[in-house]
Amino acid sequence: MTAKLTIDPAFAIGPADRRIFGSFVEHLGRCVYGGVYEPGHRSADPHGLRGDVLELTRELGVSVVRYPGGNFVSGYRWEDGVGPVADRPRRLDLAWKTIETNAFGLDEFMTWAAAAGVEPMMAVNLGTRGVQEACDLLEYANHPGGTRLSDLRRSHGAEQPYGVKLWCLGNELDGPWQVGHKTAEEYGRLAAETARAMKMIDPSVSLVACGSSGRGMPTFASWEATVLEHTYELVDYVSAHTYYDPADGDRASLLASAVDMDHFIAEVVATADHVAAKQRHRRKLKISFDEWNVWYQSRLQADLDRRGWVEAPTLIEDDYTAVDAVVVGDLLITLLRHADRVGVACQAQLANVIAPIRTRTGGPAWRQSIFHPFALTARYARGTVLRTEPVCPTYATKRYGDVPVLDTVAVHDEETGALTVLAVNRGTADLPLDLDLRGLPGLAGAAHLTLAAGDDPDAVNTEAEPDRVTPRELAAPTPDGGRCAVLLPAVSWNLLRFA
Ligand code: AHR
Repeated sequence: MTAKLTIDPAFAIGPADRRIFGSFVEHLGRCVYGGVYEPGHRSADPHGLRGDVLELTRELGVSVVRYPGGNFVSGYRWEDGVGPVADRPRRLDLAWKTIETNAFGLDEFMTWAAAAGVEPMMAVNLGTRGVQEACDLLEYANHPGGTRLSDLRRSHGAEQPYGVKLWCLGNELDGPWQVGHKTAEEYGRLAAETARAMKMIDPSVSLVACGSSGRGMPTFASWEATVLEHTYELVDYVSAHTYYDPADGDRASLLASAVDMDHFIAEVVATADHVAAKQRHRRKLKISFDEWNVWYQSRLQADLDRRGWVEAPTLIEDDYTAVDAVVVGDLLITLLRHADRVGVACQAQLANVIAPIRTRTGGPAWRQSIFHPFALTARYARGTVLRTEPVCPTYATKRYGDVPVLDTVAVHDEETGALTVLAVNRGTADLPLDLDLRGLPGLAGAAHLTLAAGDDPDAVNTEAEPDRVTPRELAAPTPDGGRCAVLLPAVSWNLLRFA
């Protein structure tokens, strides 16, 4: 069967917010040490920032980067990471059973963020700490000067305030694994009091309340409802986190992961809107999807069990396959489709740890398969996101029942007139697509890039073979009277450009 897709600028969802193309740097494994930071590396700048990773970060098109955790932040003392490096304490990081040297901290991160051209998104510790420490960190980062902590920052060489706008009120406090885990009631109260105090210091900040650490959590939805009862009027976002694990080999379900993400977003929106209705708020809350990715998570415990306390261990360094790249491309399609309610999204993480960028400490950096759909989507999905309703066959999955083989979104750049169509064929056969572009007359086909996993689904990029999985160019589509026939290869992520 030929699938059908009609694209019309009348069906606008909203602007494609650049903040959807965020990433995440956590003190975890080799994300920081040996990832973004490695003094002595041949590409390192005078601050110890790896130049090859900076270059790939820019190429990836990352907009926002969340820091410093993750689970790590829930036991972190931010002041350990500022001032002369020789005076910084070595600490036990309980989250990842790691020794934290604190050689990299807030000031180094801000230097890195400026060099990478990304917006910083900070998380405060609401696991083992509270209102005062969050305020102290905000004063250090954002207050111009004339107070103890703002002057401390200036004495460390940062004369101007950092002006960090995005702040996460803790991380995954619903999770029993979290240091300082809390009930929704406990967290909701603490987040509200922290938000109030932070806004007194800097009313311009945007705050993210912790939602659930996954749709499968037993407290999912009731956690959001309770937390938002306390915080709705004080925060700008509620967070969502999700990871999809390919380890059980059920490829048909893995390829449908975006169906689950779609439901997750709809359910968080429904819960937030319920609280808004109850409390009579007119403002719609947005989602900060500040952790998402494919993650072979079932391997994690073995990694943690295997070792004692060490510095910067090799941890959660998943090798991503061609199929994983198709799934990541589809998750980005889903985030874009919800552009009206998802305001921030961060792929977790940036370097080495479940990451699009891999490095060898002392060696080169390379692009994992998942790098490519992210970079191309970030580069071309500019303008207004358009709603699409593909007509296509379905296939059966164990996890999600019958799901459509085709997933799509379109983004129209009104300024240039260019149209980008993103399409994933989840099926194991090539899919002919009849594209109806009559709503946008005069467009010519500019490019068809595909990352097709059908022939070699388990292919991965490695140091020895860094470009085994890359997108390839197919013949540009040729619209004729506003109709266009396209062939989407089996198990593929596709970017179609019209200008
Ligand atoms: O991104 C890895 C970990 O996953 C984060 O530290 C935590 O927030 C989540 O559970």
